Amino acid sequence: MTNPADFDIARARAETPGCAHGAHFTASGASLMPQCVIDAIQDHVDLEAKIGGYEAEDRCRDKIEHTYDALADMLHCRSDEIALVENATRGWDMAFYAFDFGPGDRILTAQSEYASNYIAYLQIAKRTGAEIVTVPDDDNGQLDVTAMANLIDDQTKLIAVTHVPTSGGLVNPAAEIGKVAKDAGVPYLLDACQSAGQMPLNVKEIGCDMLSATGRKFLRGPRGTGFLYIRRELAEELEPPFLDLHAATWTGPDSYEIRRDARRFENWESYVAGRVGLGVAVDYAMDWGLDRIEARVTALADGLRDRLDALDGVTVRDLGAKRCGIVTFTVNGMGPEEIKLILARQDIHVLTSTASGTLLDMHARGLTELIRAGVHYFNSEEEVDRLVGAVAALR
Ligand SMILES: Cc1ncc(COP(=O)(O)O)c(C=O)c1O
Repeated sequence: MTNPADFDIARARAETPGCAHGAHFTASGASLMPQCVIDAIQDHVDLEAKIGGYEAEDRCRDKIEHTYDALADMLHCRSDEIALVENATRGWDMAFYAFDFGPGDRILTAQSEYASNYIAYLQIAKRTGAEIVTVPDDDNGQLDVTAMANLIDDQTKLIAVTHVPTSGGLVNPAAEIGKVAKDAGVPYLLDACQSAGQMPLNVKEIGCDMLSATGRKFLRGPRGTGFLYIRRELAEELEPPFLDLHAATWTGPDSYEIRRDARRFENWESYVAGRVGLGVAVDYAMDWGLDRIEARVTALADGLRDRLDALDGVTVRDLGAKRCGIVTFTVNGMGPEEIKLILARQDIHVLTSTASGTLLDMHARGLTELIRAGVHYFNSEEEVDRLVGAVAALR
């Protein structure tokens, strides 16, 4: 068992320039990058300025390749099962829209599904006659795996679930879902946008066939970066919704050939400095150890929840048998945006979530808005004290 106290917080903070500029509880939006990631991006942009963009890319091919290898190491898959894309949504979309849905095909998803994903289900349902089946939550507020198993039938074409929803600390039981998906032989797409970088993710243990995530949240990578894992055999079966001359080769006047690896889900032009920076961010997270990161983040978030919950007029809103580094709460009589501004004046930075981000879940809970504090391992106990003190002083 990893001890959360076994963490060199002084080093983590010294290597994070943003720590000198306020308390940042924003890891579920865009976290603070460590110096090594900032250096990698800046060095690459400097090189582009000196020798040109294409030339700089040629010179750093090994660094770009390393990003695939680092992500494969992190996810316990092969490098040719990784596609690098612009953001988590694009990775997710490339996988989802590759399925050939037809009338009556069923897409099983969770109550706390992310808006962009659900909008895509709605669009596909409208276009093709596919059916969206939202699996109910269990008493802990996480996806009810038994109910999901009972909802699977011959028409179930895809299980697509968000691991950590945008509006709370809940961690959906990804591996239990994976077991049911595997037993039923249904492809499983996991949106790990908010879990990547704050906990270990092993695609074999989870049993997912596809997984999408961003670089900028808990992985502490650059904005404008994302990635998709897709199991090799499935990648070969699925034709991406968009193809270009990187994803495929124009072989004759009437023909093209799609590449076989996961890069068929990419496109040619990319944010090269970001790709390099992403690889450095993954190395950095792996160097700390994702087990240790999870232990530290969970302990800090649990402490914050307990202390906020003890405050008069403050309600912690996180659901789930397992909770992560995202802490959500409301304050009686005050709106989240107003609170965010008051805290920002004290150099304490939090985020907010609105109902439209996870509409079904927020409506079911009768909520319109939340304050979202994403704790990361570099947050100090003093910063948590400041946040609790500032919330207590609101009333
Ligand atoms: C659960 C979840 N999925 C997907 C996304 C979208 O990520 P991106 O903005 O990188 O496309 C978010 C962003 O907040 C999210 O919370």
